[in-house]
Amino acid sequence: MATNQGKMNGRPGRNGRNGRKAALRYAHIIGWGMEVPARVMTNDEISQIVDTSDQWIRERTGIRERHIAGPKDSTATLALRAAKRALEVADVNPADLDLVIVATATPEHLFPATACLVQDWLGASNAGAFDLSAGCTGFIYALNLAAQTIVSGAADTVLVVGSETLSRIVNWEDRGTCVLFGDGAGAVVLRASNAPGGVLTGLLRSDGSGSELLSLPAGGSRFPPSPETVANGMHKIHMNGREVFRFATRVMTQATRSVVEDLGLTLNDVALIIPHQANIRIIEAAARSLGIPMDRVYVNVDRYGNTSSASIPIALCEAIQSGKVKPDDYIVLVAFGAGLTWGATAIKWVPTPPPPSPLSQRAREVGYWLAALRSAWRRLIRRLESWVRGLAAQSQ
Ligand code: UT7
Repeated sequence: MATNQGKMNGRPGRNGRNGRKAALRYAHIIGWGMEVPARVMTNDEISQIVDTSDQWIRERTGIRERHIAGPKDSTATLALRAAKRALEVADVNPADLDLVIVATATPEHLFPATACLVQDWLGASNAGAFDLSAGCTGFIYALNLAAQTIVSGAADTVLVVGSETLSRIVNWEDRGTCVLFGDGAGAVVLRASNAPGGVLTGLLRSDGSGSELLSLPAGGSRFPPSPETVANGMHKIHMNGREVFRFATRVMTQATRSVVEDLGLTLNDVALIIPHQANIRIIEAAARSLGIPMDRVYVNVDRYGNTSSASIPIALCEAIQSGKVKPDDYIVLVAFGAGLTWGATAIKWVPTPPPPSPLSQRAREVGYWLAALRSAWRRLIRRLESWVRGLAAQSQ
């Protein structure tokens, strides 16, 4: 998406094609959920691994602690738990999903997509699924894409997840990076509605000339895994922190202004900004430059560190649950990351849905159990078919 996405509202709905007066379609966030691993790692613990201190980390980044994936956690399992919570809030059955998008920089595998695993485990049997790679801006890209898919009429209900296990790709000998990152997942369910509001506009940008500033160099086709790539630490995060810092403070401000102006609003109309949680100094510098007081900026970097594409959905989830987002509020989500990429989204929040009935939650739980059964059954049938084909080939 090369250009400013412009306003997403104002597109005719599906019933516009059969001659009746077309209703406008909007993409509303109707469910949200998050998941972080149980294990909390404090700055003091990190200072026992590398030459750093709690004071340095707090003063330079604002981070106090982060959550670290346990042996049984992975990007897909964290994504699944966040997704289930979002579906519960939305009271949506997985079979009603048209699309599952997982934004991640730490996918379960290079392929298949983590989103396909989540789709299978949920039993989202009518959904397409794919991963989206845009570094820490991944959730913003995915949210914009999902909203446009809904507004265009191509989908009615979309699950968007940001999920990461960055602890698996951090160089635990590099104090310049290992103190920054954490693990977690956040998810939202978007649904088409004729009620004005929801995800109204977005801005997506990229500057690949800065690709080497933040990267995981090996493991792809450029540097396939080899003893040398492993020995040279090329499967770990490499970052030029100072350059990324400079870039971040500039684009956070620009992207926020752009989406606000796109809606014909001013920054005074924005009730809450939810920025990518990378470093409190970046967030404060952007707020200063925008002239927005910090009580209108959501911050949780102290508790989670930088969870890349999970950082905004986790923060959004907490902001909603703590009552910081109110009906009819305009909120802006804004992020930057590897690529380089950056982007923002402006949302008009609508009244929250009523709590789901315990019965429909029970039905979803049975559905998850059936999805696991169906997945195992399909694997078995595939194996049997291949075995029978093998026998037939031998007998010819
Ligand atoms: O989602 C995008 C992900 N990336 C980011 O958002 C990163 C953006 N950049 C940053 O947040 C900051 O640049 C850092 C937190 C990474 C570093 O902070 P800084 O204030 O830019 O520090 P610096 O790189 O300029 O380093 C200052 C000093 C250096 O020592 P000397 O050369 O002045 O003696 C570093 O070696 O701090 C040293 N240093 C540390 N000292 C203690 C770097 N990391 C550490 C550490 N503990 N963990």
